[in-house]
Amino acid sequence: MTIEVTRNSGEGFFVGRQAGDYNPIIVALDVPSWQQAQDLVVELSPVVDFFKIGMELFTAVGPKAIRAIKAEGCKVFLDLKYHDIPNTVKGAVGAATALGVDMMTIHASGGRTMLQAAVAGANESTKAPILLGVTVLTSIDTHVLQSELQVQAEVTDQVVHLGKLSIGSGLQGVVASPLEITNLRMALGDEAVIVTPGIRPPWDERGDQRRVATPQEAIVQGADYLVIGRPITAAKDPRAAAARIAAELKTGD
Ligand code: C5P
Repeated sequence: MTIEVTRNSGEGFFVGRQAGDYNPIIVALDVPSWQQAQDLVVELSPVVDFFKIGMELFTAVGPKAIRAIKAEGCKVFLDLKYHDIPNTVKGAVGAATALGVDMMTIHASGGRTMLQAAVAGANESTKAPILLGVTVLTSIDTHVLQSELQVQAEVTDQVVHLGKLSIGSGLQGVVASPLEITNLRMALGDEAVIVTPGIRPPWDERGDQRRVATPQEAIVQGADYLVIGRPITAAKDPRAAAARIAAELKTGD
């Protein structure tokens, strides 16, 4: 694994996993065409080296998007949230690993055998990606969990339960909303990788995400990586927005 795990200091601001140059920002490329994604990667790669490809871009463009970002010397977080029978998930993780993906998501609710199959798929290569468990989607609240899915637990308890299942099955970490970081960090310990979307810098005005945190808040609570989309990609000057967030994380401003 290329990314070393070191916890933040807990002294009020980010100090980084790799002294000096570690940047926790992952930019979400939530666009429907390679042209738009490429423009963002070219614009942002001087200040950000990690990009998230989700269902929209991958469905439209396919593995070309992964290869092109890797060719720029950047890292890829493939967020396709795999959830299928173990054999199928193993094959899909193996295929993503062969493409050079650095981080990817698996639904923890697929169960231990499926998660272990994902780990086996990743370990077929000498450079396995970081595997992250997806716990309970933030669109699902306790009412939906209990009445529609018939899971008789509070969302926060189910999130921690599935986080532990992920780590216990051999995954390296989890995706966590800002509201879940603290509970998951306490339950999973220092080594688990926590990746958090729903980030809004204090100076950003876009407000459709309901459970949000500022970059500093998320890092102080225990996140390792921040998935940031529109505050960067929809900014007037995306590179300046990314550079400002990175600089503020370094200084704690
Ligand atoms: O533009 P914005 O910063 O809101 O983008 C956040 C990214 O994180 C999107 O790609 C979105 O799909 C993803 N995400 C999220 N909330 C979750 C899980 C994933 O916003 N609970």
